[in-house]
Amino acid sequence: MKTIVISLGGSILIPELNNNRIQAYLPVLETIAAQHRLFVVVGGGGGARDYIGVARDLGIDEGTADEIGILVTRLNATLLIAALGDSAYPKVAESHSEAKKFAESKKIVVMGGITPGQTTDAVAAVLAERVHADVFVNVTSVNGIYDKDPKKFPGAKHHRTLTPKQLIEIVGRGGLGAGSHNVLDIIAARVVERSHIPLVVLDGTRPENLSDALLTGHLDGSIVSETKKKILPL
Ligand code: UTP
Repeated sequence: MKTIVISLGGSILIPELNNNRIQAYLPVLETIAAQHRLFVVVGGGGGARDYIGVARDLGIDEGTADEIGILVTRLNATLLIAALGDSAYPKVAESHSEAKKFAESKKIVVMGGITPGQTTDAVAAVLAERVHADVFVNVTSVNGIYDKDPKKFPGAKHHRTLTPKQLIEIVGRGGLGAGSHNVLDIIAARVVERSHIPLVVLDGTRPENLSDALLTGHLDGSIVSETKKKILPL
């Protein structure tokens, strides 16, 4: 049994409230949790971006907009917990310590954001450290890490494997503001570097990509690791 922390982007799970992938993710998460200890950190998605946009229009400061974003991530986490039913611990963890405590139940532990100035990727990266995860997975909307944003630059180069240092170089070029978008936030990238925990980045628009990567080793994505040690399948 391995320990897995997943950063499940809101743009994947709930890009829009009425156009979500929650139902499709339930069997995938349950299959993984049947074999491994699983933590899921849920992002804010379109809802968070809508709220943050309105907050900005009202002249509200970035820190407060972040707090609003955190509330949306917790709302999304609540929805996922309710949909998972008995497979999940019934309460959203509001700190890493709480997540550790909830994991004693042996159920899937779900959390959202915790601190302004970062995204749920950073929450998940630190959680991976705190629970001594074997792997940290970032489920996002691109099939791995490119040298440039592949949505803006069609010729961008895909990295199948890269070191934490290369990762920091790539994500360091992105910005940081409430609702800002990058393949992984820079804080998370720094935590990945110091924790020595391998990071897997994959495209979650097809939910089975997650179970395929973890359970069968079929990965269409990137692996960030300091060593050449085989990471997948778990
Ligand atoms: P997300 O983690 O969802 O950010 O948090 P994201 O980059 O938009 O990722 P996707 O689209 O879900 O994949 C939404 C917003 O909530 C605030 C930030 O403003 C973030 O942009 N937030 C989240 C925090 O301030 N702190 C946290 O710990 C988490």
